[in-house]
Amino acid sequence: MSENLINRAIDILDANFQDGGFTIPSKGLYPFQWKWDSGFIAIGFAHYDIIKAKTEIKTLLEAQWDNGFIPHIVFHTEDDSYFPGADFHRSDLHSKSSKKYRSTGMTQPPVTGFVLQEMYRTAENKEDMLHFIKEHIDKVYQNHIYFYENRDPHNEGLVYIYHNWESGTDNSPVWDDIWKTMSPPEYTFERKDTTHVDASQRPSKREYDHYLHIIEIAKEHHYDDAKIAELSPFLVQDPLFNAILIKSNEALLGLYELIGGHETEKEQLQRWQEKSISGVNSKLFDGELGAYVHYDLRNNIPIRHLSSSSFSPLFAGIPNQERAKVVVQTMLDRFGGDDKYLCASFDPTNERFNPRKYWRGPVWINMNWLLYYGLKRYGFMETAQRIKDDSIELIERDGFYEYFDCRKDTGEENRKGYGGGNFSWSAALLIDLLKN
Ligand code: SER
Repeated sequence: MSENLINRAIDILDANFQDGGFTIPSKGLYPFQWKWDSGFIAIGFAHYDIIKAKTEIKTLLEAQWDNGFIPHIVFHTEDDSYFPGADFHRSDLHSKSSKKYRSTGMTQPPVTGFVLQEMYRTAENKEDMLHFIKEHIDKVYQNHIYFYENRDPHNEGLVYIYHNWESGTDNSPVWDDIWKTMSPPEYTFERKDTTHVDASQRPSKREYDHYLHIIEIAKEHHYDDAKIAELSPFLVQDPLFNAILIKSNEALLGLYELIGGHETEKEQLQRWQEKSISGVNSKLFDGELGAYVHYDLRNNIPIRHLSSSSFSPLFAGIPNQERAKVVVQTMLDRFGGDDKYLCASFDPTNERFNPRKYWRGPVWINMNWLLYYGLKRYGFMETAQRIKDDSIELIERDGFYEYFDCRKDTGEENRKGYGGGNFSWSAALLIDLLKN
């Protein structure tokens, strides 16, 4: 059975790989290269086609800006089947943007550091992989410098995101609190996502008004980071984004150790680690809720809701063992009922929870993947096994979709997953879960 699933996953990844040397997340819905998708995809490729894995990362890093920034979408091709496209985002407004590739002017979780480490772990020919890593690691390190120099205005070791699309968890109910503080204009535009996916599974028109408005403000200031920090109505310290940065810091440290030398980089990474881990623990941990939460830096207030991001610091070794136990218990109590698959993207006991709608409740395989490794890291083997089994069962049952209903019984006879079909990271990470 698992051999058959792996073969199906391989077929999906190979079909989504493009001539330009990158992989689309899903045909129709997402026709370009996305930053965090790319990383998860490379982890899958590394298990059976190391050349494609390397090409994926190389292509992403080629689109890096001169200031170290790596954009969230690289528009490799002219394709008007996606909104908002390159003409809307106008990365050329920033003086340091890539001259070769058009992109967005926002980023996504910095997965590339830990992805290089995963590729090394999986590669059979370690020497060859280390050679590849030597050639590319400094670019990833530059990306981390970009974050610490531009996204941490109060020097807390916590970087901010200025757009919900930077979080990766695009329409999480967490952002509803921020939308309440904004009143964007009613823009006129043509959605493309809802021509591919049922609108009940995607964000609303009004949510898109907010998304576009934040970008318009950033564009007015030519994507200048200092201006964005001063003026963006959306400025958030996200536990998932920071956990991924910290995990990637740790990975870069380990890889520089393997390569040898690089004392300056290692010392810097060590300093960032100490500061960031203590920043996440002191500012983003919510003792009453028993997990990590987002902090609204614009309005100076924690956003006290539980989501799958609340547990992601496990992946980066952020809590101590005692706190990790509390976090896992919260996950099991609130998200882990017998009638549910782990792990819903948003608190099923919250009135904002919606089991079908994108990041407002469904299970995502990339989150399950990082929670799986996080749980293992602390020795919670039973829960780790459950999250792995649930991920496999959902894909077997519902197909290689973008996201999945967390309810074991949805009342439907022919249930399917939601969002884009033949979804690349669901395929890639399933391969990794089954092969490890
Ligand atoms: N995933 C987003 C979208 O829905 C963009 O990153 O278009």
